[in-house]
Amino acid sequence: MKFGVICVSDRCSQGICEDKSGKLIEEIVSALGETAAYTVVPDETDRISQAIIRMCDTDKVDVVLTTGGTGFAPRDVTPEATLAVLEKQTPGISEAIRQKSLEITPMAMLSRAVSGIRESTLIINLPGSPKAVKESLEIILPVLPHAVETLSGKTLSCGGNY
Ligand code: MTE
Repeated sequence: MKFGVICVSDRCSQGICEDKSGKLIEEIVSALGETAAYTVVPDETDRISQAIIRMCDTDKVDVVLTTGGTGFAPRDVTPEATLAVLEKQTPGISEAIRQKSLEITPMAMLSRAVSGIRESTLIINLPGSPKAVKESLEIILPVLPHAVETLSGKTLSCGGNY
C-alpha cells in the first residue's frame, strides 16, 4: 500500500515548529506499507488541494492522509480544500473517527474532518495533534487494506470475509 502524507500547518510550513504528526503517521502506517509522498503546506485552500491532487494523479498513492486544519480556527480550511477535489465522499470513515474519538474526548466533536475518493485514491483528513493522529489511525487502520483493495477494482464483493 502506498501512502501520501500532508501536514497542513502555517507554523510547520514556515519552519517555526517541527511536524511531529506527519512523522507519526509515517511511523504508524509503515505497518501497512510505505510513505511514497510527503509534504508540508500552509493553511491555504489552493495549496492543500494542489498537494492532494499531485499525490492522487501524479504519485498515484493508494491513501492520502492529511493532518491538521480541521477545526474551527479562522484559517482551518482542510475539509473545504479536500471536498473541492473529491469525486465521492466516504462519510462512514470520518463518522467512525469522530464517534470512536468521542469516547476518548468530547473535543473530538470540534473536528470537521472529511474523507473521500478521487479516482482510485482514498483521502482522509485527520486532526492535527499527535495524540489525535494516533487515536484516529487506530480506528481506521484495520479497514484500510479492504478499502484499498475494493477501490482498486480487484475485489468485486466482500465475499462474507469481513
Ligand atoms: N480526536 C481525537 N481522537 N483526539 C483528540 O485529542 N482533538 C480535537 C479534535 N479531534 C482530538 C480529536 C481537537 S482539540 C480539535 S480542536 C479538533 O480535533 C481539530 O483539530 P485540528 O484543527 O488540529 O485539525
